[in-house]
Amino acid sequence: MRVTIKDVARQAGVSTSTVSLVLNNKPVSISQETRNAVLAAARELNYRPNQLAVSLVTQKSKTLGLIIPDNSNLFFAQLSKHIETAVNAAGYTLIYGNSNDSVRTDLHYLHIFGDRGVDGIIISPSAFGTPDEYWSCLSFIYSLKLPVVFIDRSMEESNLPSVLPDNFTGGYIATRHLLDQGHRVIGCCTGPANLNSSEQRLNGYRKALDEYGIPFNPTLIYQGDFSTESGQKALPYLLGQNVTAVFAFNDMMAFGIYKEMHSYNLSIPGDLSIVGFDDIFFAELIQPPLTTVAQPIAEMAAEVVKTLVSQIETPSREINAVPKTFSPVLKVRGSVRKIDTKQHNGGTQ
Ligand code: RIB
Repeated sequence: MRVTIKDVARQAGVSTSTVSLVLNNKPVSISQETRNAVLAAARELNYRPNQLAVSLVTQKSKTLGLIIPDNSNLFFAQLSKHIETAVNAAGYTLIYGNSNDSVRTDLHYLHIFGDRGVDGIIISPSAFGTPDEYWSCLSFIYSLKLPVVFIDRSMEESNLPSVLPDNFTGGYIATRHLLDQGHRVIGCCTGPANLNSSEQRLNGYRKALDEYGIPFNPTLIYQGDFSTESGQKALPYLLGQNVTAVFAFNDMMAFGIYKEMHSYNLSIPGDLSIVGFDDIFFAELIQPPLTTVAQPIAEMAAEVVKTLVSQIETPSREINAVPKTFSPVLKVRGSVRKIDTKQHNGGTQ
């Protein structure tokens, strides 16, 4: 049987309102003797406030919701860990849901979090869903009348705040690195179609090619989906296009390329150079260590929590819908080699 505030009051010989004032440390004149009696009774009875009852009174649950597309992808696992650390440091509890990159599941968790009375929601929107599901999700977000902030991906049509990596620059620096190493026939293994972060990385790739006077060749673009399996499937196609290097739009697909290269008895970077994106934990542990574009995961996590908590605790403050973008950094490791451009279809793609 749960211990209630009435049990504590009875044990301490005071009223329930006195117990509430003492346990919530309200600045009212209560003798130290009474305070000690209340605290001793609460300790002896192992009293824990009923958070649902508290939230009914305060209309605050001190709980935040987080929805991420794929908790099996270390990028989102690492992002969630940093977000949870920041949420706890801010005095809140985090509950989270994994959408498996499905907009329909995004909507499912938005309903659940709304029913659970969270004070705010952080969401990295899913890549896969129909236009109707996308708009249903966005209109439900508005109907919640709760602070919502996007992390890493956003729903561009919303006027909601977002914290994003600079995907365009990330695609550009990845491709420039390969070009500077002599590669001219550079394949891409992209993220899901219609996902803005993937489209921006491709635009960065195209800008780097343009600066080298290399025309964009769409046959060098393989449509991936951020999964390791799609990296494995991309390899035979891209090898058939005589690429000397591949820019994988995330590390999980780069790992898939590694796996497939081993099955072909081909070597990285001897036979093919690879650049990834995210810089997840295993990127520096695999052999050869992956050259990749590092997202500032910890900084983005801290910023998204600060943005959401600020909205919750100062609701009068005007919402700034301008995305806060964070610069990625190229981590040069061992998966790219310099080649003699003239020996490898130099100058053409
Ligand atoms: O690896 C998952 C990808 O989806 C990351 O690049 C991240 O930016 C998200 O968009």
